[in-house]
Amino acid sequence: MKTCDWNMAVAWLWILFGFASGFALGLNFHREDWLGGYGSHRRRLYRLAHISFFGLAIINLLFYFTAREFSVTQWQVVAASRAFIVGAISMPICCLIMAHDSKYRTLFVIPVSSLMLGGILTFWEVIKL
Ligand code: HEM
Repeated sequence: MKTCDWNMAVAWLWILFGFASGFALGLNFHREDWLGGYGSHRRRLYRLAHISFFGLAIINLLFYFTAREFSVTQWQVVAASRAFIVGAISMPICCLIMAHDSKYRTLFVIPVSSLMLGGILTFWEVIKL
């Protein structure tokens, strides 16, 4: 597989994880007090993990189509591809860790910085086109 093909593969796997996590939430969401109720910190972070699968799938899909215009041998393109994958993997994990212990909130630096790096490198390549 070429570098950017991984972004496409992650995108579709994350869409499946999004459906699966939605199914898991759906098994319990009729219970008013589940995870402390709809507005509780824990329940919001579980929901955020579910939504992040779809959001980051779309970002990786967008990157795949945008990167078709780039020269994939450039280190910036390879780094952006990896950064979007790291962001997609680490964001739902951080949401779940945070849902159970908010003292680990600084872990969000990992998805946030990798996604920002991917965005900056992609933007840089786009304006060079
Ligand atoms: C198999 C497909 C899906 C299932 C079974 C599912 C299930 C659920 C469930 C049960 C909740 C409520 C969680 C709670 O009560 O805490 C929820 C929330 C949510 N889902 Fe999904 N979902 C699916 C697909 C999607 C898709 C495709 C999107 C968007 C691209 C999406 C976006 C959202 C959003 C934004 C919320 C939060 C809504 C709110 O806070 O009011 N879901 N989902």
